[in-house]
Parts: sequence; structure tokens; C-alpha cells
Amino acid sequence: MEERNTPKSVSRRTALGGMIAAGAAVSTPAAAAGDDAAITTIQPWRQELGRGVDAMPYGLPSAYEKSVHRRNVSWLTADTYSSVNFTPLHDLDGVITPNGLCFERNHSGVALIDPARHRLMLHGLVKTPLVFTMADLMRFPRQNRTCFLECAANSGMEWRGAQMNGVQFTHGMIHNVMYTGIPLRVLLAAAGVRPSAKWLLLEGADAAGMTRSLPLKKALDDCMVAFRMNGEALRAEQGYPLRLVVPGWEGNLWIKWLRRIEVGDKPWHHREETSKYTDLMSDGRARRFTWQMDAKSVITSPSPQAPIVHRPGPTILTGIAWSGRGALSRVDVSLDGGRNWQIARLSGPADTFALRRFYLEFDWDGRPMLLQSRAHDSTGYVQPTKDRLRAIRGENSTYHNNGIQTWAVNKNGEVENVEIS
Ligand code: CO
Repeated sequence: MEERNTPKSVSRRTALGGMIAAGAAVSTPAAAAGDDAAITTIQPWRQELGRGVDAMPYGLPSAYEKSVHRRNVSWLTADTYSSVNFTPLHDLDGVITPNGLCFERNHSGVALIDPARHRLMLHGLVKTPLVFTMADLMRFPRQNRTCFLECAANSGMEWRGAQMNGVQFTHGMIHNVMYTGIPLRVLLAAAGVRPSAKWLLLEGADAAGMTRSLPLKKALDDCMVAFRMNGEALRAEQGYPLRLVVPGWEGNLWIKWLRRIEVGDKPWHHREETSKYTDLMSDGRARRFTWQMDAKSVITSPSPQAPIVHRPGPTILTGIAWSGRGALSRVDVSLDGGRNWQIARLSGPADTFALRRFYLEFDWDGRPMLLQSRAHDSTGYVQPTKDRLRAIRGENSTYHNNGIQTWAVNKNGEVENVEIS
């Protein structure tokens, strides 16, 4: 196959207007207007008053969207307190994850914290140990930044082969939110970090007392102590009233319900932390401190939970891509299992360490397809196949699986999670 791995751009036109003008993605109406009962009848909502503005002070999605929600996998964990649920990626578009749909990963359930009684302590190798109330924190300069948060175990269930039949479960341990918060370096400067400091210990106020070590260098570079997500206060399950934001790095470092930061000169060792920070390889050696999330992408529609429900013809393929090492620079899409690649169209904000949204508009001929996407980032890194990842890392660790996902589409438009080699 001479075209293998040779990107082929079907459309160099970046503006959607150009594509519509060329007629590449324009659908025709399903029926002539006079034949459609939905046009000729007067439905209830055209005859009755709707809900008043005082009936729902905090808005909810339309009742017709009730299938759009987080889901867990009951056999995955022994209980729902030290557990995880998954973002419904197949139901979303754009790049922002709505607050109520951000996946949850907790170790002792969701702490419900009274902000008036919450404190953030900053101590250790500092000139002046400090304790902040929430009111104190509101007087520091704040910033806004959109970041993806991906669990290092995302796609881990897929390491040994295709298992979960839905992108919500294969890739749903990720969300992408605009945070408002205080640069951590500002708080550290207020306390005065001593020259020997190299590491931070971060501790949450949940019953698990979740703790993680973080290099001071990263903290000074771009970490934030955040109190808002998408404009409103953090949701309880995302760490209300305070959480750490660690752009581009794995989710377990983003301590929720943040109550204590201790400055030290070496990493602290906790049993769970040691295993989390270590990926065992086939030769018995281990990858240590694997914090940065590699470039990755996945097609969210079509996917097993979002099959093609229309006849052959104009079809919209879409997905998300991200990198924790550099800017996401390009996404390729294949309809034939990686033999031929086309450059997808990116649309929406291009923030570094945030999700990007991609599209490919094409005419489906009604034949089976093997859909794949692969991400490129500004470091030159290209998302690898799962076979390539396993050849390097073996099969011992399920963390950091950023391999290329394959969806098989049959002639009826139904989609299945498969692996091909
Ligand atoms: Co890791």
C-alpha cells in the first residue's frame, strides 16, 4: 500500500464556507414540506404556555436530553465510593465539558465542604507559613485557563485488546473546563519558598486525605489553585471549594478539596502514589514519574454509542484530540483502518493543554469502514498504534494508553470497538 502513512488532504479549504460552496457536505431535505406531518399538525407546545421563568431557578437540559449523563461500570470497583464514572463523549460537541458531565474519580466519595470552615495551609520550607480562608484567596489576582484533565488510567481497560463497546468507557476519563484560579506561584511567593525547596506535598480534605507529590518546578511554571469551573463555583465532585490544576499532567495530581501544601526538598512516598507514578514494562524495568499526558485522539461520532442512523451520503465524523506535551498541531483520520489518511478540520479554541475538536465531512458509500484518528503535537510526536505501544511497554501496565482507537462501522451504520493489526 504505497499510500500507507502518507497524509492526504481531501480539503485544504479551512473555512467551512468553502466546503459548503463546493457542495461537499450539503444534505438535501428529507421530504417535501407538504408531506411532513410535523409541519401540518399543531403540536402541544404551540398551543400551551410553557414553563414560567421562576419554575427552574437553576436550569437543566431539556427533558429530551435525559440520556446524556455520566455512567459507571459496576464490575470495575468494589463500591461507588472509591470509584469512577465516565464523561458521555459520544453525546458532546465543541470542546467544553458541561460541569454536570465531567467524569468523577473519588477515593472516599464526594466531600461536601462548608467554604466558611475550609482553610488552605501553606507550610514547610517557607519563610512564613500561611493559612488562607476562602475570603483571603479572593483578594489574590486570578487567571482563566481552559485545560483537559485526563486520568492516567483512561483507556486502561483497552490495553490488552478491545473491551468496552463505547467511547464513554474507552476514553471518558477526560474532561475539559475553563478554570478560574490563582497561579500557585503567587501563593508560594506570598509564603517565601526557601532555596532548598524542590517538591510539594498536596493534600485534600476528603476522608481519604488524598496526597500527591509534585515537583516545585511544575508548580511555579503553570499550576493554579482553582475555585471556579466554566464560570461557576467548582462542583462538589470536582473539589469544591478548591482544587489544584496541573496543565497537561495526569489527573491524580489535580488534588481536589485542596487543604494543605507542604514545601519540601524530596518527594513524599505513599503506597498508592508509588504505584501510580510507576508503569511496569515487559522487561521488568519501570517507567517512573510518567506525569505528562501524551498526544491522543478519538472519534466520538460515529462510535458504538453514536451509530450512523442515516442513509449513505453526506456524513459528519467528529472527535477530540489533545496533548500534554505541546500544542496539538494536526489530526489525521482514516476510514480504512490506517491505510489512507486525510487531514481533519480543526474547529474552535486552540488552547495549549486543552481539548481540540476535529471534523471530517465525507460521502459515505454505505460500505463497512474502519475508523481511526491520530494526533500530532508541536514536539513532532505522533499518536502510535496500540501494537507499537505494547511492543515498547509490554502488557504489565494499563496506565498511559494513548494508542490509536479503531471503530468498525458495518453496512447498517452500527459501530463496534475492534482492534486490527
Ligand atoms: Co503516570
